[in-house]
Amino acid sequence: MTASATPHLLLDGIDEPGLNTLPVYARRGGYEVMKDALRRPQDGIVEELKQSGLRGRGGAGFPLGMKASFIPAGDIDKYLVCNADESEPGTFKDREIMQKCPHRLIEGMIIAAYTVGANKAFIFIRGEYMHQADVLEAAVEEAKAAGYLGNDILGSGFNLDLWVHRGAGAYICGEETGLLDSLEGKRGNPRLKPPFPANQGLYQGPTLINNVETLSTIPVILGMGGEEYAKLGVERSSGTKLISVSGHVQRPGNYEIELGMKARDIIEGLAGGTTPGHRVKFWFPGGSSSPVLLEDDLDLTYDFDTMAKAGSMLGSGAIIVCDDTTSPVDVALKLATFYRHESCGKCTPCREGTNWTLRMLERVEAGLATPMDLDRIESVQNQIMGNCLCVLGDAMAMPVSSLVKKFRGEFEEHLEKKRASEDFMLGFDPAAGGHVDTPIRVVA
Ligand SMILES: Cc1cc2nc3c(=O)[nH]c(=O)nc-3n(C[C@H](O)[C@H](O)[C@H](O)COP(=O)(O)O)c2cc1C
Repeated sequence: MTASATPHLLLDGIDEPGLNTLPVYARRGGYEVMKDALRRPQDGIVEELKQSGLRGRGGAGFPLGMKASFIPAGDIDKYLVCNADESEPGTFKDREIMQKCPHRLIEGMIIAAYTVGANKAFIFIRGEYMHQADVLEAAVEEAKAAGYLGNDILGSGFNLDLWVHRGAGAYICGEETGLLDSLEGKRGNPRLKPPFPANQGLYQGPTLINNVETLSTIPVILGMGGEEYAKLGVERSSGTKLISVSGHVQRPGNYEIELGMKARDIIEGLAGGTTPGHRVKFWFPGGSSSPVLLEDDLDLTYDFDTMAKAGSMLGSGAIIVCDDTTSPVDVALKLATFYRHESCGKCTPCREGTNWTLRMLERVEAGLATPMDLDRIESVQNQIMGNCLCVLGDAMAMPVSSLVKKFRGEFEEHLEKKRASEDFMLGFDPAAGGHVDTPIRVVA
């Protein structure tokens, strides 16, 4: 569901029937910015992107203009890659853009490729997004037929081929270097950085890699001017952002907000808040990998720096709301289950850390742990954070650690309750491999 929230830049007219087709997109002014951009000097475009202050919308929040300026000049094979993996739980904004307005993404990609001198571009889309991949492929064909892709685009002398590449549905392939390996036909594992993709990316060539929302915002920025765009939002968090709101709210969906809006106005205003009689217990401000914030934090403004100062992050802009019926133990266990499954296993802190965290949380869930084990869980999270090849390990450690810290009392209460329950007994369970600490359920 898409609700109204102002100002509308990316979601403007998004539900208009046929917007996914070229004639409707062109009727709304589509591809005009690209036509103009192809006549402009590249460094002027980079400057304007810098002026806009746009920070990447995929999670890390790195400034787009600066990243584009890192791509070396010269006549070498360069690449543009769109990260459409969108695997972070709670995030579903890129899906809406690709499904309903694929041409704005293609237009943004043509401009980005022209700006950095890339002649080959790829959209790496998560395997589960089959319908969106079909829509994108149809749009790419339309753009080719119109002469917006291929050789000598509109007589500019610029050539660009664009492919839609379907991933196999692995969270790690959203990590930019894992994505590049996967695109090259290898197992999707993150690479050691540096070198960063801007210097050595796809097929060892300089590569600009950006998120769907980031690239789709380029025509908007150039259309209104970088300086004008920078007036939206707040300092160091300019512009509008698509926010996916899910969990215990009455109106889940994608909302376009001006950065710097109060979190309460997003959760309670736009998304309708929790159902009557319930309150927000905790919320993830930037997808499942962000440390949780509490009800008291709802009056913070939603922007990159404020979320970071509060000990969390804006991430992909996916707010997940958990009301007072939610057990933090359950949530921690679900997170660990997901990240352990998705860990590629290439580096030890992530491979071992996610595995041990899951095993310890399973013991907590079953009531087999002691409060000392909670300290151990925290200690393991501290050993994961900052020590992995990519931040997948941190993506589990940060929220799990925040849940154990902020709800320590509830974790301990859970342990006590489990131990006191009638059907709890430590013993030997041959069916489960004979571990002495396996709980036996006594069925009356
Ligand atoms: C484990 C992991 C998963 C990620 N998944 C995604 C993703 O699904 N989509 C995305 O755009 N960025 C994802 N990222 C971030 C990318 O590595 C990269 O920062 C992003 O594509 C850069 O684009 P941007 O600057 O436009 O945000 C992920 C990072 C990690 C560590």
